[in-house]
Amino acid sequence: MKDMLRVGIIGMGGISRVHTDVLMNMENAKIVAVCDINQARLQAAKEKTGAENAYENWEDLIKQEDIDIVHVLTPHYLHAPMSIRALKAGKHVLTEKPMATTVEDARKMIEAADQADTTLSVIFQNRYNASTVAVKEMQEAGELGRLICARASICWHREAPYYTESGWRGAWATEGGGTLINQAIHTLDLLSYLGGPIKRVLGHISTDLLRDSIEVEDNCHAVFEYENGAKGVLHATNNYGIDAPILLELVYENATYQLLAEKLLKVEDGVPHLVLRGQDAKHLGEKSYWGDSHKIQIAKLYDCILTGKKFEIDARSAFPALNLVKAIQESSAKNDWINLEKV
Ligand SMILES: NC(=O)c1ccc[n+]([C@@H]2O[C@H](COP(=O)([O-])OP(=O)(O)OC[C@H]3O[C@@H](n4cnc5c(N)ncnc54)[C@H](O)[C@@H]3O)[C@@H](O)[C@H]2O)c1
Repeated sequence: MKDMLRVGIIGMGGISRVHTDVLMNMENAKIVAVCDINQARLQAAKEKTGAENAYENWEDLIKQEDIDIVHVLTPHYLHAPMSIRALKAGKHVLTEKPMATTVEDARKMIEAADQADTTLSVIFQNRYNASTVAVKEMQEAGELGRLICARASICWHREAPYYTESGWRGAWATEGGGTLINQAIHTLDLLSYLGGPIKRVLGHISTDLLRDSIEVEDNCHAVFEYENGAKGVLHATNNYGIDAPILLELVYENATYQLLAEKLLKVEDGVPHLVLRGQDAKHLGEKSYWGDSHKIQIAKLYDCILTGKKFEIDARSAFPALNLVKAIQESSAKNDWINLEKV
């Protein structure tokens, strides 16, 4: 049995620093190839990681036979084609969120993963935040009872240059949406991970403060209904003045909890009390919002692959979050409820 995975990384932009830092500190990972169409980023990544090969063409990286796993860290519209090609070449794949920009592509990825004898995982690192883990454990132990309702408030700050300088953000074809698919998707994932399957949604999206710079939405509000009848509301915006900690409140039969990023609060008599501080934000600035939990997800995934176990965040498990994003966008266009189809 192998004791190490040989890694190829496609896309050496902003988030690649988090992946390379994690991988370079793991004993069971070795970065052997990096790829980017941007020469300067490619060379910097090769030097930083000591990768043997640096490719400008992602198909060449996938052709490298001794690569076991490919990390896909590119713009959203490239996740599906790159992941599918890598699966077909017999590689394991870890793609950044969102898994794809359309539900149809996500289904093709699930099909490719089913046919491959390898794993497709999608980064949803917030499932490993201390607050999420604590609620999941109580739920699985049967302590919380049935979900009654849930609410989420996602208020982030993004200015026009974040979109215009990227070359891919802000456009439907390349980003697949705005605040929902890029920022809120982590919370949409937790809404079903901790709350259960969602049956239908009615949502409204709009392009407001950034309407002169982008096509996609920078605001959204929605109501939704779980399969068990529980009600949910959410709002998400990129028009706030700071990246505020995301609030996710889950009202169960036996207890009400609020997740504020890593922190967990229990609401008693209407007052939230801190019950778990979680990891204090060691990295002030952007990384504290992305969460520190990438390293936990990557380490768990690698352990599962190396020991032949199924990893929990596979393509099917990642599907509901993208499905909800797309249903809200569709609901807004039709101004009507959308029933969520199962995987
Ligand atoms: N999990 C998180 O918290 C988190 C945080 C930030 C970003 N992300 C995700 O990571 C992904 C990348 O985001 P980013 O902020 O690093 O973007 P970025 O624009 O900084 O980096 C993307 C990189 O991909 C490269 N690229 C584009 N087309 C390519 C191609 N055909 N072949 C090879 N390389 C190509 C670009 O040159 C660029 O270097 C996105 O899916 C984003 O949503 C996730």
